[in-house]
Amino acid sequence: MAPPAPPILNGHSETVIAQTCQTYNLTPSEFAQLRDRAVAAKATSYSPYSKFRVGAVLLSTGKVNNAAVTGERSSSSSEGTYTPGANVENASYPVTTCAERVAFGRAITEGHRGFKAVAVATDISPAASPCGMCRQFIREFCELSMPILMFDKDENFSVLRLEDLLPLSFGPDQMGIEGAA
Ligand code: THU
Repeated sequence: MAPPAPPILNGHSETVIAQTCQTYNLTPSEFAQLRDRAVAAKATSYSPYSKFRVGAVLLSTGKVNNAAVTGERSSSSSEGTYTPGANVENASYPVTTCAERVAFGRAITEGHRGFKAVAVATDISPAASPCGMCRQFIREFCELSMPILMFDKDENFSVLRLEDLLPLSFGPDQMGIEGAA
């Protein structure tokens, strides 16, 4: 049987945010940054065909020592790094890239590792969750317990761990490598 839909939570309630942060090991400031940056990233969507804007942001706290990394566009502070992305569509529809994969492609090539949370924002309600291809893409770089926050058009949200969105998953460990989590 399919699991029940996750509850829709108030994305601006201090009590709800405090509870969410405790469960998923985030600070209220990180939650607010994830919410605001995912919503802001929607504005950078290139979606003339579907008109369906998706914004994503990744919070990471690690970095690989990669001397070739130049021209970084993520914002880092002592707290961590926020890497944004948005969906980029194409006249040849299947060539479209989702917001989550745009953000991960940017983060990984900038050297960011140690992802603490992913946030996705859309203009619908209830909130959209990452597509199957994106779930697998995320699996390559993140712990199964990492939270994925999904914001709706009113900035309310649902949250699930990667392992809930992608049970019994296939990842780098099955290929005998440690992976980039
Ligand atoms: N989209 C995303 O960016 N992320 C998802 O996880 C689901 C779908 C985009 C792809 C396309 O540009 C639009 O949403 C409609 O499918």
